[in-house]
Amino acid sequence: MNNRLEQLTESVTLRIADRVRALGLEGKCVIRLQTGDPDFPTHPLIIESAYRAMRTGETHYCNTRGLPELRDAIAAQIELRYGLNFDPGNEVLVTHGGIHAVMAAVFALVDAGDEVLIEDPCWMPYVGCTVMAGGTPVRFAADVNDGFRFSITNLQQKLTQRSRLLILNSPCNPTGRMLDRKTLQEIAALVLAYDLWIISDEVYEALSYGHPHVPTAALETLRSRTITIGSLSKTYAMTGWRVGYAVGPAKAISEMLKVSQYSITNVAPYVQRAAVTAITSPDVAQYVKDMQAIYAIRRSQVIETMKSLSNLKAQAPDGAFYFMIDISQSGMNSEAFASRLLEEYAVAVVPGQGFGPAADSFVRVTFAAPIQEVIEGLSLVGAFITKLLNSPSDAV
Ligand SMILES: Cc1ncc(COP(=O)(O)O)c(C=O)c1O
Repeated sequence: MNNRLEQLTESVTLRIADRVRALGLEGKCVIRLQTGDPDFPTHPLIIESAYRAMRTGETHYCNTRGLPELRDAIAAQIELRYGLNFDPGNEVLVTHGGIHAVMAAVFALVDAGDEVLIEDPCWMPYVGCTVMAGGTPVRFAADVNDGFRFSITNLQQKLTQRSRLLILNSPCNPTGRMLDRKTLQEIAALVLAYDLWIISDEVYEALSYGHPHVPTAALETLRSRTITIGSLSKTYAMTGWRVGYAVGPAKAISEMLKVSQYSITNVAPYVQRAAVTAITSPDVAQYVKDMQAIYAIRRSQVIETMKSLSNLKAQAPDGAFYFMIDISQSGMNSEAFASRLLEEYAVAVVPGQGFGPAADSFVRVTFAAPIQEVIEGLSLVGAFITKLLNSPSDAV
């Protein structure tokens, strides 16, 4: 077996998802607060256009960079939102979801032994892709005492002559933190000093709550060394369609294209037609606005619920759709806590440890789920903590 893979363990999030499914088969009703999958259906116009494309014969191999119409739509949307210009001809690549864009970018940039700087906590595929590419993940902790804010000091301490790539994620899964322009400028100074590349994962860019999203590539000095990752999964409730993209300098995109050609050939053309409709249809744009408004209301409802449950603490997220709940007073680590919560209270959450050691006294809950379930789930988390506080010997 490939010994690089032996360094990796199965994804904690997917393991929990499997356990939730197994409990479902046993007839147990579980409150699912573990998944990062919007609970909204994909808009019917998107489905219609995939169906139409299939009916009209778009069921064969197609352009490996992505359909020109989709690359045009992606570039036009980025220009409209952020005033950034990417050439759809050679600076845009359509990928099999954002995860595939991350993988292709890491494989394009990382050589054996290169150090890749990754925040702790983080979305774990950054670590997995780095290890698979033969690189060395170097974790730097977010500031746990300041609601997981990005820590320039912690990043600086981990930089070496072997540092090659920095992975950023804003809005961040799991913490919900966003990078503001000032922090990005501080990051830029280090990136230039150490001559690093950046992968900037911005798949949650459309989900922020009063905080303007600042794309990393909007900083002039970073534009030529940043590969930006986007996805239709979260914004358009299209996780099952598997369509994402990368935009960046032509040289990097053409190296990523090789990874894509040698791994997936192309994204299904009818899925890409659906993606064009998602990005360009005014009806879908309205639907996205409606979903954004609902997420914002849910976020406020979660904050209100937290206030009423005195033993639950969490920092409100700037963006994305997750809360990190502090479980330190339970006396348990996050894995044990989440596992007992699932078995005894039928509430599924993700242990913070699944995102890195810095989050081991937290669990992640999503509000991409019906709000009544979220509120009920949180009450049960509160009840579990109260039980543990009343009988500390039970916290094993
Ligand atoms: C931070 C982050 N990046 C990228 C992705 C990839 O999403 P997809 O592959 O569905 O586009 C996810 C999915 O959960 C995510 O949380």
